[in-house]
Amino acid sequence: MNYDGVEFNECEEVYPPAEDTFLLIDNLMVQSGYDVLEIGTGTGLVSICASLKCSSVTSTDINPYAIKCAEANIKLNNRDNITVIKSDLFDNINGKYDLILFNTPYLPVTDEEHVDDEYSKAWDGGENGREVIDKFLKQAPQYLKENGTIQLVQSSLSDNEKTIQTLKKLGLKAEITAIEHIFFEDITLITAYKA
Ligand SMILES: C[S@@+](CC[C@H](N)C(=O)[O-])C[C@H]1O[C@@H](n2cnc3c(N)ncnc32)[C@H](O)[C@@H]1O
Repeated sequence: MNYDGVEFNECEEVYPPAEDTFLLIDNLMVQSGYDVLEIGTGTGLVSICASLKCSSVTSTDINPYAIKCAEANIKLNNRDNITVIKSDLFDNINGKYDLILFNTPYLPVTDEEHVDDEYSKAWDGGENGREVIDKFLKQAPQYLKENGTIQLVQSSLSDNEKTIQTLKKLGLKAEITAIEHIFFEDITLITAYKA
């Protein structure tokens, strides 16, 4: 498969690139010289696209199948400026970054609907869709460089306004910078930077 000139393969137990992936890729605020961190890289497609325009990318995922998949796709594209790390959010991250990216697990999933496997971690955002988003927002600012930027994807089903208000309370300017309407929800890209 190919997106934006980047070849990639989908893998079992790993989120296949979809509208939310492409919304992020099409609106990346990446610049040459940037050190980029992607949380939840899945197939690695977003990281590979970013790596073509910046200095370095660190790609993480909690799903071990995603780690293997991203490594294979990075090799397929001969990228030598991407480091892949298995990590639950920022647990194994030490550096500071110009740009932090996360296409989050944003769907509300009840306890009854919850499935305890690796694949479901791609979309399962807990009862209100915000379980992972809120943990991410709490930690992300301390991994940003002075003029760093956060770009995260979520949906109208997981309360965009709460994300914007949380980011503002953390001292960041935040706004919706891209929207795509799909079926019964709006997929949104929220961009935040130090004021
Ligand atoms: C919606 S998918 C996005 C995958 C890929 N970035 C894309 O856009 O196609 C969310 C990804 O986040 C990962 N993820 C979920 N919770 C995580 C956590 N706590 N830490 C790191 N990655 C996580 C999932 O395994 C999944 O690969």
